[in-house]
Amino acid sequence: MGKSEYMIKAKPFIKWVGGKSQLLEQFENYYPKELRKGTIKNYVEPFLGGGALFFALSQRYKIENAYLSDLNKDLVLTYQIIQERPNDLLEFLEQYQKDYDQTEQEKRNDLFLEVREQFNIQRFEINYKNLSDNWVSRAAQFIFLNKTCFNGLFRLNSKGEFNVPYGKYKKAAKKWK
Ligand SMILES: C[S@@+](CC[C@H](N)C(=O)[O-])C[C@H]1O[C@@H](n2cnc3c(N)ncnc32)[C@H](O)[C@@H]1O
Repeated sequence: MGKSEYMIKAKPFIKWVGGKSQLLEQFENYYPKELRKGTIKNYVEPFLGGGALFFALSQRYKIENAYLSDLNKDLVLTYQIIQERPNDLLEFLEQYQKDYDQTEQEKRNDLFLEVREQFNIQRFEINYKNLSDNWVSRAAQFIFLNKTCFNGLFRLNSKGEFNVPYGKYKKAAKKWK
């Protein structure tokens, strides 16, 4: 690993409603003093979301064990794939990047809808309990949709289908790397 790679700080990889990135400075005064002293070793975050708080704290303080969780199964699946299969995930994302870049502005909505449809159809094939190959493409779809949908919203209808529309971002292609 090159020196520059050591310097890169981990931060949220998705845009997430209610993310705490903008509030981190204000939170400073409210952290327990034991955290600064380094006597808190275990961190529990039941509402992980984009993980802004976790990434900030874990890189600054000596947290030894982190127990991270979220209600959103596809979000958790994506974290697990980033942890276990990062290179496979990158291959998928690079392909999406290419497809997106090569698609004319007016046709990107169609590309978005195609991925959204795959994401919805394939939900029945996912076993969230056991990491398997189809998790990698699902994580890539999840990130693609997050970066290209309206405001990074994650919303499911009553049938469990992701139904957020395309975000019409001119530069969306640059956002997932
Ligand atoms: C605003 S985000 C958390 C922000 C995050 N902690 C940060 O540092 O940026 C809230 C998260 O809580 C999750 N959530 C909501 N209700 C939940 C529940 N009952 N159990 C677990 N997670 C839940 C949502 O899926 C969402 O990802």
